[in-house]
Amino acid sequence: MAKSNMDRDILSVFYSEEQIHARIQELGDQIYDKFHDKNPLFVGVLKGCFLFMADIIRACQIKCEIEFIAVSSYGSAFQSSGNVQITRDLGQDITGRDLIVVEDILDSGNTLYFLRGYFLAKGAKSVTIVTLFDKPERREKPIKADYIGFDVPNEFIVGYGLDYRQQYRNLPYVGVLKPEIYTEE
Ligand code: PRP
Repeated sequence: MAKSNMDRDILSVFYSEEQIHARIQELGDQIYDKFHDKNPLFVGVLKGCFLFMADIIRACQIKCEIEFIAVSSYGSAFQSSGNVQITRDLGQDITGRDLIVVEDILDSGNTLYFLRGYFLAKGAKSVTIVTLFDKPERREKPIKADYIGFDVPNEFIVGYGLDYRQQYRNLPYVGVLKPEIYTEE
């Protein structure tokens, strides 16, 4: 196991590395069954998606392409502003493509609500959403994911792509951050 100076900031492990990988393989199998003859375009939503994207496309051995988009709606705030802006756009034409949008977490829904409309306006044939984590109780926009790894309660979780002030993304598991970490500043 790698040495870590982040573990001490974690109150409890929510989902272990093993649990996450097992669930991703289940999602990969389901996506394979539905999309193996469609040459889908996987679109990861940066930055939080980066680990999940790497794992889901390997759990899903489909001939496909990958693309990334980056958006901003939170800034450094806890609460989504609802004002979603593209900070790094797609690098290719998506007209007529079956998109599989890959997110680490679906929270207020502002990001994916905006992106789904954006992709359809750009001519995507279909938009399928896969998120590793879903916080349904926080939803502000009418949007649901097609594939969900885990429902999570409204706790401050970090790891496996999820950050607190850009840190903890490289934890291999997802854990609850100790309150003193985000209340001491
Ligand atoms: C997070 C996450 C989603 C979004 C979900 O991104 O990766 O993109 O928030 O929240 P919402 O459903 O309330 O819109 P964030 O803006 O924190 O950027 P990051 O991916 O760089 O961490």
